[in-house]
Amino acid sequence: MTGRPGGGPVFRATVRPLLVLGRWLLVEIQERRYGIRTSGEVELADLGLAAADRRSYKPSPWLGLRRALPRRSVSPDDVFIDIGSGRGRVVFQAARFYAFRRVIGVELSPQLHAEAVANIERNRASLRCAEVRLYCGDVLDVPIPDDVTVAYLYNPFAGAVFATVAGRLLASVDRRPRRLRIVYANPVEHDLLMATGRVRLTGRVRALRPGREWAASASVHVYDVTPAGSAAVTGPA
Ligand SMILES: C[S@@+](CC[C@H](N)C(=O)[O-])C[C@H]1O[C@@H](n2cnc3c(N)ncnc32)[C@H](O)[C@@H]1O
Repeated sequence: MTGRPGGGPVFRATVRPLLVLGRWLLVEIQERRYGIRTSGEVELADLGLAAADRRSYKPSPWLGLRRALPRRSVSPDDVFIDIGSGRGRVVFQAARFYAFRRVIGVELSPQLHAEAVANIERNRASLRCAEVRLYCGDVLDVPIPDDVTVAYLYNPFAGAVFATVAGRLLASVDRRPRRLRIVYANPVEHDLLMATGRVRLTGRVRALRPGREWAASASVHVYDVTPAGSAAVTGPA
């Protein structure tokens, strides 16, 4: 993952530690409240899973999904997938707070996958969505179902892997036409996605972080996949 430069020396010595502490406290309180453990970063290299396009584990900002995907925009016909679901923070939030019919997670690391399973199992009784499916494997080996309507990615991979997954999402809409939203946090492959000519940027959540790089890494884009043959429009609605 990238670093978080930003702000001058005074800022780095004063405001920034307070911001970091505030965010840490928010997550601690929420995780204790719901009995989940998803914090901390894990390097794929330490798990023997590093590869050029893969990105390591870092949980989404706690409020990221809520800010990018209003609850009222989700109906019981919607199906959610977190591609690169890690310890399951976003899978938990999607299943706990939204009216999804099904929530799916796909995670490469068996260790992180096991932690996600434990987080979900501890909360089964209080989940709004009864059907949560967690798969362990490389996304390239795990099919993305044709009824998925919200695909969430928090910078799980880049380059060729991202291009392949994006292509599979577009092909899925071609096979089974439907509204498909891609919620892309830390959207480092934004240009690649737009270059497909098949997505429209419909929402952009700017992170409240100082410094361009830190803010960009915590921002979230929402795209609608457009039907094949229609003109894609750039720029947020
Ligand atoms: C930045 S973390 C995001 C975790 C989670 N989605 C969240 O928002 O809290 C990216 C995750 O993608 C996983 N990942 C990377 N490459 C993958 C691949 N090829 N297939 C499945 N998961 C992958 C990593 O192991 C890591 O857990």
